[in-house]
Amino acid sequence: MSRYLADLEPIAREAGALLMSYFDRHIKIEYKGDVDLVTAADRASEKLIAEHLHRRWPQHGIVGEEGTRTDTTAEYRWYVDPLDGTTNFAHGYPVFCVSIALVRKDDQLEVGVLYDPTRDELFAAERGQGATLNGKPIHVSQTAHLAESILGTGFPSHKRHNNPNIHFYQQITLRSHGVRRAGSAALDLANVAAGRFDGFWEFNLNPWDTSAGVLIVLEAAGRVTRFDGTPFRLDSREVLATNRLIHDEVLATFSDIFAGRGLEPLPSPIEYAKTRA
Ligand code: IPD
Ligand code: CA
Ligand code: CA
Repeated sequence: MSRYLADLEPIAREAGALLMSYFDRHIKIEYKGDVDLVTAADRASEKLIAEHLHRRWPQHGIVGEEGTRTDTTAEYRWYVDPLDGTTNFAHGYPVFCVSIALVRKDDQLEVGVLYDPTRDELFAAERGQGATLNGKPIHVSQTAHLAESILGTGFPSHKRHNNPNIHFYQQITLRSHGVRRAGSAALDLANVAAGRFDGFWEFNLNPWDTSAGVLIVLEAAGRVTRFDGTPFRLDSREVLATNRLIHDEVLATFSDIFAGRGLEPLPSPIEYAKTRA
């Protein structure tokens, strides 16, 4: 194991244990936006992670979701999501994780760690070294067709009135075994890497949501692009991650949806109500 992962994994586990110590304790919710939540657990986890990273790698920059910004021009930069799935966490729904990634220059993903303390699952990857779950190698699924796939997605907490994802949700649902909306984009990506999901997409994510998970998917032999098939970048605001085999089919479906081709309209609740006894 590389020096990075050997030092990083205990940090992610410690942050996860800290989150568990706050979990289910009627924690006070604050609002960063309309439905953009933050809690004391997010802040405490970020402080703990940033202190460890800074102590261990003082020459690296750190960008944390809850406001940590140190030396953002450094060649190496850590992206920290101290609690991905805050809404779940705040409601006592046990689907959340810690996400930490190291990026070189603007976009070279070097190392990623995701820790889910509710299941004691630690996903890790280093560029060129493969991906692991609790130390064992993981690989994306072998599902060859969208029709036999299960996928994940999420809906943004910012500007949600402007987001067209409900159409993607409907179309992919109708063309697959189903779509899950679990509330932690980082874990959704980890689930693609582990072969539990065949694909995942979401609009408007930030680098701290995607960086670790994208590297873990790539190192598990998956494929990650924007919604038009162009290369994913951390500032893309579109992420489609799949097992590679269904990628082109999903891209073709997205292209149809963006063009409004062959779409059945969403069923009308007004018409439905008329058919009720
Ligand atoms: C959120 C989660 C969620 C996704 C949101 C993210 P947070 O991150 O990843 O699944 O749908 O867009 O903002 O706020 O819980 O760290
Ligand atoms: Ca997040
Ligand atoms: Ca977060």
